Amino acid sequence: MSLTDSPDTDAQMTTKEPEAARLTIGESEYELPVRKGTLGPDVLDITRLYRNSGRFTYDPGYTSTASCSSKVTFIDGKAGKLLYRGYPIDQLAENGNYLETCYLLLYGELPDRKHFEEFEHRVTHHTMVHEQMNRFFTGFRRDAHPMSIMVGVVGALSAFYHDSTDIHDPVQRDVASVRMIAKMPTIAAMAHKYAIGQPFIYPRNDLDYAANFLHMCFAVPCAPYNVDPVLARAVDRIFILHADHEQNASTSTVRLAGSSGANPFACIAAGIACLWGPSHGGANEAALNMLEEIGTVDRIPEYIKRAKDKSDPFRLMGFGHRVYKNYDPRAKVMRETCHEVLDTLGVKEEPLLKVAMELERIALEDEYFIEKKLYPNIDFYSGITLRALGFPSELFTVLFAVARTVGWIAQWKEMIEDPEQRIGRPRQLYIGPKERDYLPMDQRTTEGWPAAASPPK
Ligand code: SDX
Repeated sequence: MSLTDSPDTDAQMTTKEPEAARLTIGESEYELPVRKGTLGPDVLDITRLYRNSGRFTYDPGYTSTASCSSKVTFIDGKAGKLLYRGYPIDQLAENGNYLETCYLLLYGELPDRKHFEEFEHRVTHHTMVHEQMNRFFTGFRRDAHPMSIMVGVVGALSAFYHDSTDIHDPVQRDVASVRMIAKMPTIAAMAHKYAIGQPFIYPRNDLDYAANFLHMCFAVPCAPYNVDPVLARAVDRIFILHADHEQNASTSTVRLAGSSGANPFACIAAGIACLWGPSHGGANEAALNMLEEIGTVDRIPEYIKRAKDKSDPFRLMGFGHRVYKNYDPRAKVMRETCHEVLDTLGVKEEPLLKVAMELERIALEDEYFIEKKLYPNIDFYSGITLRALGFPSELFTVLFAVARTVGWIAQWKEMIEDPEQRIGRPRQLYIGPKERDYLPMDQRTTEGWPAAASPPK
């Protein structure tokens, strides 16, 4: 099935699409223009619906809502395909590198050698952070979750780089983009070192992006640290897999924050905060914790049962996806990378990998998961891989944030440059009290109060 044949919904494309849809409400009929993209479902343009009909549309999880038009990334959820500026993720992961992917996402084309080397030089020479930023870390408890540090320190970047916060200046937007991509690994490594009580390790200009990150995380001042090129390649590939993913929750957060004119560093900090959630970027940490809780293969049926039990809040972490109703193409590459890393490290008997693979096998044969089209997503194998690489589980989502920074920035830039873009301001379906008059406190009664009117016990 080719990409052009598979809208990621079941809505079948007829051979002759109408130029407009017609909505009939009572005696009135409203025309909704149909807009076609290059791939995927068409959209019904409802920008004038409220003005013409006095009604809103309602879509709390945005399951049927396109918030923007974009050229950056496309997901074919039915076919399980992911394209960055048209290039399939498996080809980029196999043949490219993360900085090349950053260039592609930011500027729309794969660079030639001259442009790549210029870009790599710019990123490399922005990897240091202002020396005073070190002081932010000492304000955190040593056991602070590193994502709390990332939210705080990345947001504080806007206090240091006033020369790249004018969002209307394309040169400043570009400088801020390069600074974000360059400094996120440094800040992430500092958060890790702070947590384990070791000194910060400065970036090195003689190492490539992923090797530099590993060096900053695992080197110590008192001994040389040689980065294993196989492991550096694995980290680079993990960064490629996580770089962008259409209008996911954290990217939509960055776009919404940016639509108010907030500076790029503050917008990325907002994206980091959203990514932290276990339903989103926090799932890699949650998936590893889940595998550790399951512990052994014989306990899998108990957890499969819990995952299917509506009265139990337990979900299989690393399973399911809003868009993919097929195997997440990133999960396939992630699984291969997991085996490669474990083999390189000589980890033959990783019990959690056995649990993960058996859990995947059982789930993919289970009627519940088949019917609901629940497949492993990128987070299912990433936790085992990252733990094998030596990262603590609290750092897994931080690595996701490092990799996703380029996607957030590319989408933020596209939003700023989009002539159609205005401040995002959704409306609502109001179901609260009708207008009522103020009563003096002594005349009030709590009879008939709803339970929510008192603090929970
Ligand atoms: C990421 O958006 C992106 O692109 C995100 C991401 C990216 O790169 O940015 O891909 C990264 O966030 C991947 C997803 C990581 N999260 C998890 O692995 C957490 C576990 N997954 C679920 O929480 C869930 O699948 C979501 C949040 C990922 C998707 O939720 P949806 O689309 O709102 O789907 P849903 O919750 O409405 O589920 C549909 C049905 C429900 O059953 P019914 O109410 O129809 O009976 O499937 C069930 C759910 O109960 N279901 C699960 C399940 N996921 C969905 N049941 C058990 N285990 C699960 N993991």
